[in-house]
Amino acid sequence: MSFSFKTEHQKHLKALLKKYPDKRSVALPALHLAQEQEGYLSTEIIESLAEMLDITPASLMDTVSFYTMFHTKPRGKYLLQVCQTLSCSLAGADQIVDHLAHKYRIKVGETTEDGRFTLLKVECLGSCGTAPVVQINDDYYERVTKDKLKRILDKLP
Ligand code: FES
Repeated sequence: MSFSFKTEHQKHLKALLKKYPDKRSVALPALHLAQEQEGYLSTEIIESLAEMLDITPASLMDTVSFYTMFHTKPRGKYLLQVCQTLSCSLAGADQIVDHLAHKYRIKVGETTEDGRFTLLKVECLGSCGTAPVVQINDDYYERVTKDKLKRILDKLP
């Protein structure tokens, strides 16, 4: 089964393609749009995008695997991304990861059986002064503690 973009994403991609002489230049936004639409980037999606952009699937896969924000496996409704870089690590990120892993009975990289939560460790989220930092989908939470995290997670629909 080949992948195709929803109409609004097709329009967005078409507009981007007009801006650049080389289709490969829109690889990153195309990957973002595909992931936004499908939730993750399957092999089939990557192959379809590579064909659209006139690049090899292996080359596009290199790009996908380089960036931690791209996901090649289905993920939960909520992506719990705990920064593991120095400032956050020193401020207790490992304890946050352990707490979440224990709470949801998953390991890093896994998704809860009900499909709600995926736990990931990620590199610096760019807010080192307010460590430790956790990103849940598109939202940042800073100076996170177990109690603060509980309040945040309890409010998720
Ligand atoms: S080290 Fe965690 S936000 Fe930079």
